[in-house]
Amino acid sequence: MSKKIVVIPGDGIGQEITDSAVAVLKKVSDKYNLNLEFESHPAGGTAYDLCGTPLPQTTLEAAQNADAVLFGAVGGPKWDNVEPTLRPEKAVLGLRKGLGLYANLRPIKVADALVEYSPLKEEIVKGTDVLIVRELIGGIYFGDKCESEIYEGNERAWDLENYSVPEVNRIVEFAMQASKKRKNKVTSVDKSNVLATSRLWRRTTAKVAEKYPEITLENLYVDNCAMQLAINPSQFDVIVTGNLFGDILSDEAAVLSGSIGMLPSASIGESTSLYEPIHGSAPDIAGKGIANPLATILSAAMLLRYSLDEQEAATCIEQAVDKALAQGYRTPDLYKEGFIKADTKTMTEAVLNNI
Ligand code: NAD
Ligand code: IPM
Ligand code: MN
Repeated sequence: MSKKIVVIPGDGIGQEITDSAVAVLKKVSDKYNLNLEFESHPAGGTAYDLCGTPLPQTTLEAAQNADAVLFGAVGGPKWDNVEPTLRPEKAVLGLRKGLGLYANLRPIKVADALVEYSPLKEEIVKGTDVLIVRELIGGIYFGDKCESEIYEGNERAWDLENYSVPEVNRIVEFAMQASKKRKNKVTSVDKSNVLATSRLWRRTTAKVAEKYPEITLENLYVDNCAMQLAINPSQFDVIVTGNLFGDILSDEAAVLSGSIGMLPSASIGESTSLYEPIHGSAPDIAGKGIANPLATILSAAMLLRYSLDEQEAATCIEQAVDKALAQGYRTPDLYKEGFIKADTKTMTEAVLNNI
């Protein structure tokens, strides 16, 4: 039986990078007889222009009925002033909520070939292998909000952060299980010296951890965690945190690997999962054909691993990416003299040739 992959390119570089990842998936599909079927659907600003909403019902339903979703990126200056509930970013938030994707996995591994690209010294960054487990459908992203109101004579806006015990339980459980297959260490990140939601987060995490005596639980305040990621990233195994802190820390951690264009992610829930690079639509380079497609290609590998249980095919993609880098191919975000300057197409070809 065939497996249906719904592809949602989105805006900006979204089309370019998902084209690359689909080409790679097609090649491994042929090689390993995976029988993958692809169906493309609009979302983001492109969908807003097309049908007046960033997340058409047909796109959400197709995603819900798929075996897995491959997502590019949404957003761009063209839509920065549309009504807040119709912003392109609502597409990715709506898909996450609509698919119940509570666990966002963002693995940060620094490839040996890229150690020298890190803004950090080689001896600090070498050996970094962190998995950020970000809660994805709660917290301040989804709390009540007010765009504008008059309060005591002044205009104000507010966003409400809230977390319930079951929401924290399930994400911490997820992190504990993930760590069991890794190095048995979980760092929970919060701001419990200030925030009530963080104090609930910390209490709940401690209770969950009692069930996992083999796992070392460490708690860090988010400000300290941001610093620790820069001074000693290899101390971390699994980091578990809320929606907003996870968003910010993962961009910081991404640059350890040299470029945000390298970092894939998987968003997991009860049924269909979604795979996307952690970067955005990169409006500054959109349409130039120079975006780094590797984060999306590596997201496609995660799709095979987690949604389709095709471990061999997933490893094949990851190795093909490593080889292309070892052969010296570099998109402009990672280019240095002495290497092969590659645009999106050339980099994709290099990966395809190694499959
Ligand atoms: P961004 O990640 O799009 O870009 C930040 C910087 O990284 C830019 O200089 C960009 O050129 C570079 N970059 C990003 N991806 C790259 C790639 N694959 N190859 C080479 N360089 C790359 O973040 P931003 O500029 O803050 O946001 C732009 C738009 O994207 C906004 O509308 C934002 O809301 C949206 N966004 C969407 C998602 C998503 O769809 N999941 C994620 C983040 C941001
Ligand atoms: C990400 C993005 C999104 C987020 C935006 C586009 C809603 O920054 O996937 O990291 O904040 O989650
Ligand atoms: Mn982000």
